Amino acid sequence: MFLWGTATASYQIEGAVAEDGRGPSIWDTFSHEPGRIRDGDTGDVACDHYHRWREDVALMSGLGVNSYRFSIAWPRVQPDGRGAVNQAGLDFYDRLTDALVERDIVPAATLFHWDLPQRLEDEGGWLNRDTAHRFAEYAAAVADRLADRIPIWITLNEPFVHMVYGYALGTHAPGRTLVLDALPAAHHQLLGHGLAVRELRARGAEKVLITNNCTPVRPASGDPADLAAADAYDTLHNRLFNDPVLLGAYPDLSAYGTDMDGVRDGDLELISAPLDGIGINYYNPTRIAAPVDEGLPFHDAGVTGHPVTGFGWPVVPDGLRELLVGLRDRYGDALPPVYVTENGCSQPDEPGPDGTVDDRARIEFLDGHIEAMQRARAEGVDVRGYYVWSLLDNFEWAEGYSQRFGLVHVDFPTGARTPKASYHWLRERIARP
Ligand code: BGC
Repeated sequence: MFLWGTATASYQIEGAVAEDGRGPSIWDTFSHEPGRIRDGDTGDVACDHYHRWREDVALMSGLGVNSYRFSIAWPRVQPDGRGAVNQAGLDFYDRLTDALVERDIVPAATLFHWDLPQRLEDEGGWLNRDTAHRFAEYAAAVADRLADRIPIWITLNEPFVHMVYGYALGTHAPGRTLVLDALPAAHHQLLGHGLAVRELRARGAEKVLITNNCTPVRPASGDPADLAAADAYDTLHNRLFNDPVLLGAYPDLSAYGTDMDGVRDGDLELISAPLDGIGINYYNPTRIAAPVDEGLPFHDAGVTGHPVTGFGWPVVPDGLRELLVGLRDRYGDALPPVYVTENGCSQPDEPGPDGTVDDRARIEFLDGHIEAMQRARAEGVDVRGYYVWSLLDNFEWAEGYSQRFGLVHVDFPTGARTPKASYHWLRERIARP
């Protein structure tokens, strides 16, 4: 059965940040620091999904999806990131899981979508190797409770984005600006993934995946300097997180004048344990030129000549086909079945005078990308699922509530939900044979 779903993440939708024993996460801390988030927004209330989850499950049911990708908030399960399990926090996901199963919606749970318990950040966060072990302990606690009903487990969401924005550039929590010194956050996240895979397997998890954010990289020209820069960028964005998982080795980082430090014997064996699938998130391609100044060995030259989303990201549907076919060509038999675990666009959607939300641009976006995915399947890529980002307009990280990605419009702060035109369109698209 091909999986058609929607995706969300805990901090972006749940709110209820101090309820039922939840501890603070790095996003609570970061979003409350002045100047970090557009308009001073926080996830304190977000979509209030923690209280309105029944309504949200009903919306999914009405949409006709047969899967839902959500993330579990580590600080609800272990408020301090270690030790005793807060059963009240797990109860929430237990109820949600039962409601999904009851409606024949396959739950796909992500264990880490960036909301690290603050207490672990105080001890170094993902720069600290111990966090990988804490993550495995948390994964085990969640699986103990839910592996009997959740068939699809995703260890990490986009470790690239978490490392780059969180630790290298500081535009996301925890707001560190370490540039290349952020690299240990890559290795420790991946080690956490490997250790968690072992715990999930030991508890009978049916399918275990990791989700990487990938981009097809296009050199700005055939000039050797542009080609070398494109290769360097591809290494950082795509290969740094796919190679160790799929091939058991880090790519050559010499273009960055560095190597991956802190890798111990046995780490790569754990990291490359076989998976049942790989989650791929696709938003846009990247065009790379030779560096314009000292520093990083590339320059993002921007993809031009295409329509853009609310974020200003270029809309290039065929980039998804290019990406999927490229991954298959690069990894061959080492590439497990692919799940497109996120794809979607932000648009400045507001209800019209009649109360409906006519998000034509999103319909065009989704139509083009679904077609592109089908072309990749026709070219032999084993794609097993497609999840739209996102079910609801939500807290879009540093952009607060200013970027709307939902199939369902959310009025902030009342939380009123209105399915957009794209919601109705997707229901028919999914139903099509
Ligand atoms: C993330 C989501 C985010 C989306 C749009 C992905 O990088 O996983 O959390 O909202 O992109 O920016």
